[in-house]
Parts: sequence; C-alpha cells; structure tokens
Amino acid sequence: MVSYNDEGPAEAPVVLFIHGFPFNKSMWNAQFEALKPTNRVIAYDVRGHGNSEAGTEDFSIELFVEDLLGFMDTLQLDQVILCGLSMGGYIALSAIEKHPERFSGLILSDSQCLADTPEAIEKRMAAIESIREKGAELYVEQSIQNLFAAASFETKQMEIGNVKEMMSKTTAQSMCNTLHALSVRKETCSKLSELTVPILILVGKEDKITPPKVARLMLEKTQNSTLTIIEDAAHLANIENPHDFNQQLMEFIDRYFPSH
Ligand code: MLT
Repeated sequence: MVSYNDEGPAEAPVVLFIHGFPFNKSMWNAQFEALKPTNRVIAYDVRGHGNSEAGTEDFSIELFVEDLLGFMDTLQLDQVILCGLSMGGYIALSAIEKHPERFSGLILSDSQCLADTPEAIEKRMAAIESIREKGAELYVEQSIQNLFAAASFETKQMEIGNVKEMMSKTTAQSMCNTLHALSVRKETCSKLSELTVPILILVGKEDKITPPKVARLMLEKTQNSTLTIIEDAAHLANIENPHDFNQQLMEFIDRYFPSH
C-alpha cells in the first residue's frame, strides 16, 4: 500500500513530489500550501517510509522507480512534473532516464547525478552497522547536525523537531535497507544531456551532503536547465527557506506549465 496526499484542481498540471531519505511526504507541506491553488499536487511515501508498506524485497533505486511508475499508473497520471529532493532526485533522474515520455518537467532539489564514492559507501556501511547494533536514534541525532544550516539550530527549532519526528518514524530495518540501496545506486550524469524537458535545479547554499558544486555539475550536463542557490538553507532547502524555494518553484511552473 502506497500512502499519498493528493490536493488541488484535478484538471491542473500535476506536480508529483518525492521526498528524501529517511523522511516522508510531510516534508512537502509548505509546497502543497503554495501550489495547490494552481496545481494538482501529489506527494507519496516511498516504500518503507512514512505510512507506505516496506514489502519484503531488497530496496533499490530501480525498485523505487518501478513503484513510482506503478503509482502513476494506478492514479492514471500519464505525465507529471516531477520534483525530488536528494534521494527523491535520484529516483526522479533514474525514472526520467528510463521513461522520458511520462515526465514533462523536472525539479531537482539538493540532489546529484553522481554515484557514491568508496568513502561514501564505507560511511553507509558504518551507519548500517551502527543502526543494527544500537538502533536508529543515534543515527538520527548525528544526521540532523548535517542537514541544517548552522543558524537554523537557533531559528528553526520547530522545523528541526518536525524533521526529527519524520526520521524517527522510519524503522531501523527500512533505514538499513535504504542505506544499502543508496550505496549501490548507479550514476545518472552520463544520460543528463539526453533530457529535453525543462529542468529546475535548486540547492541550499550551505548543503554539505549534496553541495552547490554537484548541483552545478548537473547544470553543466543538462540543456534547458537553470540553477538557483537558496540562501539560509542547507540540505532541506524546501523546509529551511520555503519562501525562496516556493518562489522558484512557482516561477518555473508558471513559465513552462501555466494552468490558465
Ligand atoms: C537524502 O536526503 O535523501 C539523503 O541525504 C541522500 C543520500 O544520503 O545520498
């Protein structure tokens, strides 16, 4: 069972949101509020996250892409504008590479087209071991430190609390399963030049996980794309600076997919 939110006018262009790891669909709440007067907005929980079932298979980006396409078929969505943050972007890039006809536009936030480096894989393996041995709480505490801009720990305590809660809802089993999937994901950089749809790339200025330089790499490799660096934000730019994030999102949609 896939858990999802679906709001806005049925006939308007559809924006489909994919969250990052280990979060869930509620990370898009501020984008829902901003876009739902003009767009049909849909956000779902990736397998093993939020309220979606984990199933019994090993996770992989390929499996997440199959889930996405299955979900779109169930909802009879022929074509959508796809917006993914971080892992959501990995899924989006892999989905558009395999099924370009199903997507009319792409928004990549705090994401990258690169595969994991050997060091990154090592870190994931250490995280898996630590979660298995000590539970996910410590991993959540440590991850939080890297997710937000330094100033946000003073000014965005409510948002940080919400993110922590989202992370705590993801089971240790799903965290380990997803960490493994992320560690073996394939690069998508080599196919980026084949994409013909409009692409908006966003990244928090202080993102340490997928920093502006990996966003620039995607900009260089794509045609028909723009990049905006979001101020006062790190890895979760849509949560840390929803004002600027939503403005970029709305301008992009209004420019390429006007609903009036
Ligand atoms: C995410 O936010 O989805 C993760 O940081 C992705 C990753 O660890 O590569």
